[in-house]
Amino acid sequence: MPLKTQIAGWGMSLPATIRTNKDLENLIDTSEEWIRTRTGIRERRIAGEGETTFTLALEAGRRAVDRAGIAPDEIDMIIVATITPDYGFPAVANLVQDALGASNAAAFDVNAACTGFICGLAIAHGLIQSEQYRTVLLIGAETMSRILDWTDRSTCVLFGDGAGAVVLKAGEGPHGVMSTLLRSDGAGAELLYQPGAGGRTPESAETIEQGLQFLKMDGREVYKFAIRTMTGATKGTLARAGLEMDDIDVFIPHQANIRIIDASAEQLGLDRSKVFTNVERYGNTSAASIPIALCEAAEDGWIKPGYKVLMVAFGAGLSWGGTAMAWSAQPVKNEPAGAAPARAEASRS
Ligand code: ACO
Repeated sequence: MPLKTQIAGWGMSLPATIRTNKDLENLIDTSEEWIRTRTGIRERRIAGEGETTFTLALEAGRRAVDRAGIAPDEIDMIIVATITPDYGFPAVANLVQDALGASNAAAFDVNAACTGFICGLAIAHGLIQSEQYRTVLLIGAETMSRILDWTDRSTCVLFGDGAGAVVLKAGEGPHGVMSTLLRSDGAGAELLYQPGAGGRTPESAETIEQGLQFLKMDGREVYKFAIRTMTGATKGTLARAGLEMDDIDVFIPHQANIRIIDASAEQLGLDRSKVFTNVERYGNTSAASIPIALCEAAEDGWIKPGYKVLMVAFGAGLSWGGTAMAWSAQPVKNEPAGAAPARAEASRS
């Protein structure tokens, strides 16, 4: 009987600073109502001074490790999914490995944008199935605010910062990852990309003047791609797991836009009450979106042992994919997974 890939712990980390749609009205030519009705987003978290993708990843990772009740030196592998690393290299995962004291772990980053966590999950599952790795810390972490053009109203309203993490362990019994699916269409690379961040256009005064360091997106084309792939990835992931839509207890979609989530759910004939969303509070946190949603769903009692959970994402690349799993029973202990600070304590920038 092959070993199962089971979630043994989870955790998240969010910057304290909240930037509301109203705050954005003071920055750009937009309205609270436009953002809310077109995207479902009401506010997002913004990394403050001293906060980076690494610090958020470390905090989320620590919480997941504590929740799993393991020691850092039990971790074989650390994977961080991110498109906003602290450095071009080395990987954020290496920094986390050192700071956690995970002395037996290898570490690398995955660059698959909003599909990054799903991609990392497929890799971690493969490593565990190989029986050469037993305990993987998988983190999705982003500081999207650092690559946004805060004068471009068509993109800056959509994204936010944060991190979510899971500890995946080799286990026995009926529960664990049931299927993974990953796809790509690189022909759409320039529909959503950061043109000035690589070797093709070395940074210069001219590239900065042109704003090439910022995220660029063709929103309408990405929207169409998103609806198409959310439904395709959902069906494909279910088929690989031998499941029907009705078998799913909780659907956790990438939190990019409530209209994309609603339209996909409708096309799939999915009971909306099974769809977990938090895009209204965090915006699109890219690779952190699914693990943050998974943490909140687990904390809020949405997911119970044995429940079938389906996670589906799409993003830059273009890339898309899904994972189906039967939630493994894990005792909830230690402190909360990193719940948002009380609104009154949050500062606004
Ligand atoms: N405030 C006010 N008006 C705005 C804003 C804004 N923030 N942004 C755009 N507009 C205007 C546009 O200029 C346009 O005006 P015009 O008609 O005079 O030209 C009008 O609103 C409509 O613009 P559209 O682009 O048609 O708006 P749409 O309804 O398509 O919504 C949106 C735009 C929200 C970006 C949508 O296309 C979308 O969600 N796309 C998918 C984006 C996405 O999910 N990206 C993440 C991918 S995951 C990853 O890998 C990071």
